[in-house]
Amino acid sequence: MVRILCVANQKGGVGKTTTAINLAAGLARSGSRTLLIDLDPQCNASSGLGIAPAPRHPLILRQPIHESVIPAKIPNLELLPGSRSFQDVDALARSDESQADLLRQHLLRELEGYDFVLIDCPPSLGTLTQTALSASTEVLMPIQCEYFAMEGLTQMIQVIRGVMQRFPGRLEFGGIVLTMYEAALELTHEVDAEVRDFFGEIVLGTVVPRDVAVAEAPSHASSVLDYAPRSRGARAYIELCMEVLERE
Ligand SMILES: Nc1ncnc2c1ncn2[C@@H]1O[C@H](COP(=O)(O)OP(=O)(O)OP(=O)(O)O)[C@@H](O)[C@H]1O
Ligand SMILES: [Mg+2]
Repeated sequence: MVRILCVANQKGGVGKTTTAINLAAGLARSGSRTLLIDLDPQCNASSGLGIAPAPRHPLILRQPIHESVIPAKIPNLELLPGSRSFQDVDALARSDESQADLLRQHLLRELEGYDFVLIDCPPSLGTLTQTALSASTEVLMPIQCEYFAMEGLTQMIQVIRGVMQRFPGRLEFGGIVLTMYEAALELTHEVDAEVRDFFGEIVLGTVVPRDVAVAEAPSHASSVLDYAPRSRGARAYIELCMEVLERE
């Protein structure tokens, strides 16, 4: 069964795209056939892998997925590029439940050939994120270790619960991952303790340190695993991969 991981948090800049790219790269390197879907109109997952965004989003045009994916430089990894088209963003923002459901069905139709599908969501709880959640089997939520980390999470959890009720037995909490972790800061430990206290088991043991190599990798159209394999960031993402593989 294909595992579909929705990487989501309505808060911006928490490490969703970075986690989606590096986790996808790590899973692909471990031999899993992996697809990364860029659902964010910012298209950072596409450009971070050195792939140009599509003029229109292949999902919105309901193009067959296998005709729209682009192989990344990493073996076993393919990307369904995002699109910056205002027309598509606008159409989605105004789409109703039946249109969202068509999108969901289209998304699900051709994913069976993969072991893992990761969906990089925009920083919002709008139609795109909800559609991604409803198509997914797991939600992975990166949280940045900073003061406002927990704010807004209640709404996020409500939306996730709503999707779980609409499609019972499908979506699970795949985990929360702490990103941009700075062990030297007291604040980091406070946020870590607060998040683990509140969410318990679903917080993954691996934390991703703040590491400049992680931030630099996309400007080289690479994952950090390829750009700086020995960096702390690369090691953390490999560990995260193993944790995700074990959590099956
Ligand atoms: N572990 C890390 N160490 C250093 N910099 C990081 C790390 N993780 C992410 N960053 C940087 O933080 C910024 C935000 O990360 P990213 O784009 O992954 O967040 P996002 O949640 O996808 O943002 P958005 O909500 O805009 O889509 C980027 O500049 C990225 O390079
Ligand atoms: Mg992003």
